[in-house]
Parts: sequence; C-alpha cells; structure tokens
Amino acid sequence: MASITIRKLDSKTKQWLRMRAAKNGHSMEEEARLLFDQLQSNEISRQALPAGNFDSPSNKAAGVKQKTNSKSTPKAPSKTAPFSSEVLAGKNILLIISGGIAAYKCLILIRRLRERGARIKTVMTRAAEQFVTPMSVSALTAERVYSDLFDRDDEHDVGHIRLSREADLVLVVPATANLMAKMAHGLADDLASAILLATNEPVLLAPAMNPMMWQHPATVRNMRTLADDGIYSIGPGAGEMAESGEAGTGRMAEPEEILQAIEAMLDQRPKPLKGLSAVITSGPTREAIDPVRYLSNHSSGKQGHAIALALREAGADVTLVSGPVSIPNPLGVSVVRVETAEEMKQAVDQALPADIAIFVAAVADWRPAANADEKIKKAKGKSPPALKLMENPDILKGIGNRTKSRPALVVGFAAETQDVITHGKTKLEKKGADWILANDVSPEAGVMGGDFNTIRLISESGVEDWPKLNKQQVAYRLVDKIVGFFDEVVIEV
Ligand code: PMT
Repeated sequence: MASITIRKLDSKTKQWLRMRAAKNGHSMEEEARLLFDQLQSNEISRQALPAGNFDSPSNKAAGVKQKTNSKSTPKAPSKTAPFSSEVLAGKNILLIISGGIAAYKCLILIRRLRERGARIKTVMTRAAEQFVTPMSVSALTAERVYSDLFDRDDEHDVGHIRLSREADLVLVVPATANLMAKMAHGLADDLASAILLATNEPVLLAPAMNPMMWQHPATVRNMRTLADDGIYSIGPGAGEMAESGEAGTGRMAEPEEILQAIEAMLDQRPKPLKGLSAVITSGPTREAIDPVRYLSNHSSGKQGHAIALALREAGADVTLVSGPVSIPNPLGVSVVRVETAEEMKQAVDQALPADIAIFVAAVADWRPAANADEKIKKAKGKSPPALKLMENPDILKGIGNRTKSRPALVVGFAAETQDVITHGKTKLEKKGADWILANDVSPEAGVMGGDFNTIRLISESGVEDWPKLNKQQVAYRLVDKIVGFFDEVVIEV
C-alpha cells in the first residue's frame, strides 16, 4: 500500500484542491479520491487543472467530518513556516508624535512594538513635547528623537528625506486635526509634515481630537482627501474625552488596536487558510436573574480573541461570536456581540456553514428559570429567594454531532479543575468534537482572565501536551495545527 500526502503537493494545486473540496462540500481527501476515480474513468485529464488565481472571496461550504473516514491519518503540525507573531521583527518604523493628550499612549505602543522586534525612530512636533518628553521616548526607543527640520547634524544629507525613506512604515500617533490638515494640503513647515510629504512608504494615522473637531466639515474633508491619497487610518473611537464632561467620537485607538493595524499592514506571511471560513466563540455569557443581576464567570475573551486573530492572519474568513468582554475586537474579523447562551447559539447558527468551528467561550451551563422584570427586593423577615436554574443549549454538542453541514473541523475547549485529561476525553466523545483543548482553570492556574494557558490537545489519536504558553502563542500553535489538518490528508492507494 502506498500513500500520497497532500501537503507535498505544490501550493497552487493544494489551494485549488481545497477550494474545489469546499465548493463540493467534501473533505480534501474525499475530493482527491473522486478526482482519481474520475481520472481513471477518463472523465477528466490533467489539462483540466486551472492555472489558478485563487484570490476569490471565501467559499462558504458545508464541510464533511474528516475523521469519520478512517483512512485519513492524524495531522501533525505543518512543518512549513509556523505561524508566529514575527511580522514586526526587524521592521523599521518611523513614529511621528504630534501634540495631543493621547501622546502618552505612545509610550505603551513603543514598548509593544519593541517587544515584537521592531526598530523605532521618532519625530516629535514641538506641541508633542508639551505632552511627553523626548527623554522618555528616547529611553524607550533607545534612539535619539528628531524634531528640527533644520538640524545641523542631519541636514547635510537632507535628514527628512532619509528618515522618510528608510522606514517600512510611517506611523502618526496621535494624529492631530492640525497635522492632518497640513498633510491634506501638502504643507511642509516642520520636520513631521516635511517627512509626511516626502515619504514613499505606507502611512498609518491614529487620529485623536475633540469630537467637535472630528465632526467639523474641514476635518471630514481632509480625512477624505487623505484616504484618496492612499493614507491609512485607525480610529478614532467613541468615549469620554480628556476634557471633563465631553464625550463622543475622537478618542484615539488603543495601543493594542494600533499594533494590530500595523501588523496587518506589514504582514507578508503566506495565507494557508485563505478560502476557508471559521466561526469562534469567546468570552463568558451572562444569564440575567433580574434587570440588574446576572450569573457569569471570569472568562476575559483573551484566548478566543487571540485564536480569531491568528486565524485571520492565516487568511481565514473569521466570524467571532463574543460574550461581554472588555478587550478590543480583533482587526479584520467580523464580530457579533451577544450576552446569553441562547443568543450565542443563534449567532453561531447564523455564521454557519463554516469550514472550522472553535468553541472557546465559557458558556453558562445553566440560566435562571425565571428572569424577573423588576429588581428582586429584600424584604424584612423573608428568607433569600431560591434560584431555580434550567439548562442552556450546548452549542458545541449541537454542532459537533450534526450529520449535515457540520464544519470540517470542530474544536472545543474543556475547562476543568480536576482530572483534566479524563474529563477532556469524555467531552471529546460526548460533544462530537475532533479536538478538545483541555485546560486547568483552577484559580491557582490563573488561566481564566490571565495571559497564559497550558493545553492538552486531545483527539482520537491521543493526547498532546503543550508547554505553558501565552495565549497568543497557544493561538498560533493551534492555527499551525489547523493548517496541518487541512494540508496533511494522507490518501492510501
Ligand atoms: O477567556 P479567557 O480568560 O482567555 O479564558 C479562556 C478559557 C479558560 C475560557 C478557555 O481556555 C476555556 O477553557 N474555554 C472553555 C470554557 C468552558 O465553558 O468549558 P466547558 O468544559 O464547560 O465546556 C466544554 C466546551 O463546550 C467548550 O468548548 C464550551 O465552549 C462548550 N460549551 C459549553 C457549554 C455550552 N452550553 N455550550 C458550549 O458550547
């Protein structure tokens, strides 16, 4: 008996096979078998394989459960380029800080960028120096800070041109209404505006200003001009302003969101999951007792959101169904916000069909049988009200055990405080999942709400112990495994 590993096919043929399988609602293995059958009966010939431009939007097709075919072998992590957060390693970023109260957030952004291996040179406007000191910026970037258009040291080689050309990206954080107006009109009367006029590199702005300034027709006009000129922007968001009592749209995007935008712009990694769709649940659910009280848990959404982002970075078309969390939405992912388990189930059903479904949410197993219309009152001499619970729908179990339109890969988590592997194995079976990522959520482990996780991946073929990783690393490792799943189907012939 011989075997053919689909991973060993060239990437164009693999992508073509994946799209064709998705379109016909087959696993890649089944599709390949059908093709062989057809070839054998001379129905198709090699010439029929398209040269292939596979950039079409994702083909949402119902997957077929691969593991039911006993001849598809377990999938090891792909040995080709693993997914990681190395997009920014070695990248040169020119950061322009203009004068606004949000300038202090640059210090956090600089740290995050450097943690990811980026090199940062900074230009500060005179106004920016009123909000953060060049010394703090210089200490964090480990580089000198530039501010003068006519710097004796730099102008001998036309410093502003050099600065604008040696960066992979020019970043303006915060971008004030004034600086954006200068950009829109091609003014160059200081170092920052001269660089922005001289650069031939991509530019990303993070606008921040008072809501009235943001809404002003002049700013609206300038933003439109900048967008037409090919300038990118992130935010601003809505919220409270630094000026007391003011609220509205004008708040600068958070450093984490800006970071994601930068990574998306500079990301040149291959997209092995392009053409596949995924639905992920994340965060807790809230089950109302009355209008002011609810049952919930400590899930923060960090793990689920990180997986959604990593899948998007690998090229998948991702829908994230999130319970109430306080972390930002992952960029480029379509997010559906829900409160209760019932709402989460409906949102997941609506996001199907999908090729991949991953259930990370800590869904409340039960909800109060009655949700009081008014706040339940304490009454003197009366004992506390008894809370009667009823079962919530099990979303994973419903999808995992589907016979029709089941995603090709269904992954669940198991949150346990004891006998992690035994309970994880039971959940794999009962919930009809292909993989269960079991984790210890006892308070000492600090997984719920924390930044780290220790996973045991349970599948039909056994248990894989992962080391303690941060949640982004868990996400990349899982995505790597998913790439392997869709690539490494072995057909025995
Ligand atoms: O959000 P973080 O702070 O980052 O924390 C991450 C996490 C601890 C929440 C995550 O790693 C995790 O373990 N998620 C699963 C939480 C859970 O509810 O586990 P469970 O063992 O009770 O449920 C098993 C599986 O069934 C899970 O995939 C769950 O999403 C799913 N489920 C459970 C109940 C239900 N009614 N519907 C479901 O879909």
